[in-house]
Amino acid sequence: MKNLKGRDFLSVADLNGQEIKGLLQLATELKTGNMWPLASNKVLGLLFDKASTRTRVSFSVAMYQLGGQVIDLNPNVTQVGRGESIEDTARVLDRYLDVLAIRTFSHQDLQIFADYARIPIINALTDWEHPCQILADLLTIQECFGFLEGLTVTYLGDGNNVAHSLLLGAAMMGMNIRVATPNGYEPDREIVKTAQKLASIGVKIIITEDPVAAVKFAQVIYTDVWASMGQEDESLERIPLFIPYQVGSELLNHADSEAIVLHCLPAHRGEEISSAVLEGARSRVWDQAENRLHAQKALLVSLLGV
Ligand code: CP
Ligand code: NVA
Repeated sequence: MKNLKGRDFLSVADLNGQEIKGLLQLATELKTGNMWPLASNKVLGLLFDKASTRTRVSFSVAMYQLGGQVIDLNPNVTQVGRGESIEDTARVLDRYLDVLAIRTFSHQDLQIFADYARIPIINALTDWEHPCQILADLLTIQECFGFLEGLTVTYLGDGNNVAHSLLLGAAMMGMNIRVATPNGYEPDREIVKTAQKLASIGVKIIITEDPVAAVKFAQVIYTDVWASMGQEDESLERIPLFIPYQVGSELLNHADSEAIVLHCLPAHRGEEISSAVLEGARSRVWDQAENRLHAQKALLVSLLGV
């Protein structure tokens, strides 16, 4: 495993393919209990502007299992919530913490944190990307199929932060990636271009409005909420546009017979995924949620260099 000591993790594209493979290998070893690195006396800060169950708890448990400590820097209990600048906050937190995970709206703000703090800054979700999620997703897919290269993953729904990170991660790992969204909800063109640039040879990247064509013979079917945090007021108006992209039993019939279904959670049953599929035999969502812990523990070990 190439050591990532001192690096930031703001985007999947901050790593190269070898580094992602290394992290997945390390996560597998940590999961099986083959190694037990220690981050005693290391402190992780969690600065979350948005709600979180999985990311918050899995980062905290990972740090505790490594023998480290966690501080919750909720904006309501710090000066962040009263408008202290990011530049000042970053330089101060840098003097106390060993690593800082941030969940916020603007990716630009996250970048400013990274520019002003010398410690590793981790993207725990912005409106642009959710790279920690994708490490866990790749680990889950690798566990199910034994490999990643050559598989086809289809993402259905909104071309959001999760879709962006999945596009990058899948392309970099040699997976074909198809993204099916309603017109006007495609992933950003800049991300698609980056994914094309970073893709291994032979990788096919397809952005389409056709959910059935996108799902045909795919091995991994992935979805996320149609309205992300901060877009709740658009939820109702989006439903009729997005309904053809719901991951339901009928759509799944077009997928590979061994296809698995992933969802980063939280899920809205009856919207982006049917209850039958979420609870069904193809669903791997609970393993996927568990893998947040193992993948992020590997990330912490690597960024801290312990
Ligand atoms: N998937 C995910 O990031 O979940 P949380 O919002 O609960 O952290
Ligand atoms: N796209 C979702 C992911 C939640 C984990 C959001 O940003 O709300």
